[in-house]
Amino acid sequence: MQTKFVSAKLDRISSPLLVIFALDTADKKQKKPEIKLLTSNGPLGKATSSILSSGEFAAGSCETVLLHDPDGFKAERILLVGVAKLTTAEVRKAAGAAVRFAKPRKLRELTIAIPEGLDALAATKALVEGAYIGDFDSDTYKSDRKDQSIEQLGVVGSGNQSAIETGIREGVILGEAQNFTRSLVNEPGNIMTPAILGEKAAEMCRQYGLGCEVYGADKLKELKMGAFWAVTKGSQEPPALIVMTYEPKKAPASPVLGLVGKGITFDTGGISIKPADGMEKMKYDMAGGAAMIGAMRAIAQLKPAVRVIGIVCAAENMPSGTAMKPGDVAIAMSGKSIEIVNTDAEGRLVLADGLAYARQLGATHLIDAATLTGACVVALGLVNAGCFANDEDAYRHFTEATEVSGERFWRLPLEDDYKDQIKSGIADIMNTGISRWGGAINAAMFLKEFAEDTPWIHLDIAGLAWSDDAKPWMAKGPSGIAMRSITEWVRSYEK
Ligand code: BES
Ligand code: ZN
Ligand code: ZN
Repeated sequence: MQTKFVSAKLDRISSPLLVIFALDTADKKQKKPEIKLLTSNGPLGKATSSILSSGEFAAGSCETVLLHDPDGFKAERILLVGVAKLTTAEVRKAAGAAVRFAKPRKLRELTIAIPEGLDALAATKALVEGAYIGDFDSDTYKSDRKDQSIEQLGVVGSGNQSAIETGIREGVILGEAQNFTRSLVNEPGNIMTPAILGEKAAEMCRQYGLGCEVYGADKLKELKMGAFWAVTKGSQEPPALIVMTYEPKKAPASPVLGLVGKGITFDTGGISIKPADGMEKMKYDMAGGAAMIGAMRAIAQLKPAVRVIGIVCAAENMPSGTAMKPGDVAIAMSGKSIEIVNTDAEGRLVLADGLAYARQLGATHLIDAATLTGACVVALGLVNAGCFANDEDAYRHFTEATEVSGERFWRLPLEDDYKDQIKSGIADIMNTGISRWGGAINAAMFLKEFAEDTPWIHLDIAGLAWSDDAKPWMAKGPSGIAMRSITEWVRSYEK
């Protein structure tokens, strides 16, 4: 998609589709909607007055109505798209809905008007992110695939031009990085093996000027990563320890932000094998790792003055004659002994060593993302992802980041009283809780032991990394969740 700023008057824009956002400003007591177009322009009132007074369009979130040959406009069509509230999050969704409206109608170009009443940079950025997110479809394996991608996106606005230009630039970077994350997650397990994920990360790093090392089994042994090794040793596919580095010259020596992602390219459960029903979904168990690779790509382009290390622990979790068994004890890189009670709790094992390695490489602050527990999905459903923090300042940075990204995370507790759940009879710690209650917290309590005293955020994205249903603003399939929040978290340390 080519994206450009359009400075012409709205009615002078030649475009197959001009998109205008609309908001119902009526208070709840009023029965009739009172629809306000979020872009002021004389001829627009006239062209839209009959549809707006008809009552056919209520301007609900992502609701659309199309007008052909609008009176007084050069554009061939005007699409009104509703926003439920005047927020950047709603603008992001509405822009996605406009793109998803255009795609199946064979419209390859559209121009979207920046809504008034919001910060120009933030609104433009959200709009462009939303348009890119809306453009993605996970249909690469369909033989009859018709490429319906948008070729030209125009962004029109009359506000501060340099803020708009910055918003476009950042929106393109974040939108493309999110779709890159999604394209990695979309690949099936036979294609996206740990080694291939490593190659994709290395290729991205070469392209965007990041440092990158992709290590194999020998390095795991050298680093004494017994927890990571326990997971990978059951598979024929070699593991990949992916280390990406962003070291801008202008950045101070501290902080060093460590991004650690779970990269399980397929999770069968291992010897504690999962039921067949739905197991095919476990190809997306590397979504946390993909979010880190996408975030590193965006960071390389946005160039914040802060040092970042991205680590992805990629492996396949398989049952086999060489696989770890329930009851085995693994010695993690940090020296802690882990009793493996359930081989399906493999994500926390690879992350334990990933977090320890990030600390060894000098990370002063940590963030991890993982499709870690079904329990988190039970707790929070498909709307919020789980979020945990051992440090209030790091968490404050994260809330600032989600206010910008618009992604939804809900904080869950990490109190010491939960620690009894993961006490082992024979080792320092167990990889599952004694009971099944609070499974997302037990997993986080386990990871906390490996973050030690380093400020740390843990994101459990199991419920949001893949969507079985299409949304008006986004195709079904991989969502790319957490990539934008992680990037904004990193940027928040520059300020
Ligand atoms: N990859 C799964 C978690 C998961 C579940 C991701 C649903 C996406 C959707 C993880 O490795 C796992 O299997 N966790 C177990 C932990 C249990 C054995 C303590 C789970 O959640 O059941
Ligand atoms: Zn598992
Ligand atoms: Zn898993």
